Amino acid sequence: MSKNKKNKPIIIEEPNFNKAKFRSTSNLDFIDADLSVPNNLKQWANNKKYLIKTFGCQGNVRDTEYLKGYFNILNMSETDDFSNADIILFNTCAIRENAENKLFAELGNLRKYYEKNKNLIIGVCGCVMQEENPYSLLRQSFPFVKLVFGTFNINHIFNLLSKVIESNTRVVEVFSKQGEIIENMPTVRNDKYKAFVNIMYGCDKFCSYCIVPFTRGQQRSRKLTDILKEVNQLIENGYKEVTLVGQNVNSYGLDLTQSDKTSFYELLEKVAQTKIERIRFTTSHPFDFNEKVFEIMAKYKNIMPALHLPLQSGSDSVLKAMNRKYDVERYKQLVALLRKHIPDVCLTTDIIVGFPTETLEDFNKTIELCKEIRFDAAYTFIFSPREGTVAAKMTNITPKDEISRRFLILKDTIDKITEEKGHEYVNKTVNVLFDSISKKNENMISGYDEHNKLIHVKYQDNLIGTIRKVKIKESHTFSFIGEVLDE
Ligand code: 5AD
Ligand code: SF4
Repeated sequence: MSKNKKNKPIIIEEPNFNKAKFRSTSNLDFIDADLSVPNNLKQWANNKKYLIKTFGCQGNVRDTEYLKGYFNILNMSETDDFSNADIILFNTCAIRENAENKLFAELGNLRKYYEKNKNLIIGVCGCVMQEENPYSLLRQSFPFVKLVFGTFNINHIFNLLSKVIESNTRVVEVFSKQGEIIENMPTVRNDKYKAFVNIMYGCDKFCSYCIVPFTRGQQRSRKLTDILKEVNQLIENGYKEVTLVGQNVNSYGLDLTQSDKTSFYELLEKVAQTKIERIRFTTSHPFDFNEKVFEIMAKYKNIMPALHLPLQSGSDSVLKAMNRKYDVERYKQLVALLRKHIPDVCLTTDIIVGFPTETLEDFNKTIELCKEIRFDAAYTFIFSPREGTVAAKMTNITPKDEISRRFLILKDTIDKITEEKGHEYVNKTVNVLFDSISKKNENMISGYDEHNKLIHVKYQDNLIGTIRKVKIKESHTFSFIGEVLDE
């Protein structure tokens, strides 16, 4: 690396919350990724090693796969050993404060690797870098971080790295624009049989607690033809399962121009007609949910009978303060319709406890609704104020002890139902796509069934990569032991 005497950081753009709130009404740009490699980067990168640590949701997992695709073009290989990496990237999540705290704790641990190898390039990208305050903290307290970029800057990785190598100073590029759609980014997928396929980016819902509309920008849907092209390529490459991913898949297509307009249920049907063996989708939002989705789910056997439908709260007044745009009645209607069309559906949800306006009465309504609906599983979160969101400015906050108490009650309620439903699952015959050796026991092979339940069976040759009938023998609540049935 050549030395930049002044060592002044190269700031292309820093995060800006005011800009991040802006929603444009102009048409989207669809751009092809530019894969040309700057000369200095080509020379530097050959045979070097990268390590990416990914925090957060499927959106980040997919972004990491794109970054791996770029590193692959550079002939770099992946390592999971921090001490022999030439680049370490943290792809970060901002959804709750504890994710951010974890990031900074882990970032502190990287200092020792930098002390040993001053040529090591440490970078931070993803949602946390879209936020002004965490970025300021990083700028002041982590001088060894040489590369900072945001969720809109992944396709610039070659140029950004080239600048770091040339200048040996920090390079920062965090756009806060509406974003565009970039097609044909290179990718190295994490799995061989199942794949995430982005159908849209960003979110325009502005739930009052949520940081995503700021960190991921305006809702942008990919064109149907591009999505189908990706699914067909996956089929050709032997993939058996796709998960269609968006912050809010039921709003898919609302932002497309008239000539490209497609609804989510139309997209789902077209994907089903590709004949890929399994289709899942996440995440759904009750507001834009078109009930035709249920008809399509029931009509095509390759759409899995599982739905993740975040509830967030069982109280109308809390839902209103959350700006969720539906009430409990609407949620219950959707669940009834879902169960009418797909009786054996597996229904999961997200719930937030301790939202600023939540009274004990509100909380009890959530508990009652959970008992009534009987979710198969629920992800429960304690409200975490996110700077810049409406809820972060609310002052009627419940004391921490009371929130913890409510959280435990909710968790107990949910876990009990999950456990009961787990026992009901024993002796059922399900279809499992086996994809790996069990993480806990190398004599077992693991996979997910149509209901997205984790199933382990005894090791058997030639199981991985196949979908097999399995009889459930034991429930361990969050996973099951089964036996492969001979066909
Ligand atoms: N605090 C707590 N939970 C949150 N979620 C999103 N934002 C927050 C927040 N500020 C939860 C919601 C969402 C899930 C992905 O994370 O339940 O559905
Ligand atoms: Fe956040 Fe609401 Fe958008 Fe989901 S729908 S990403 S919770 S703002």
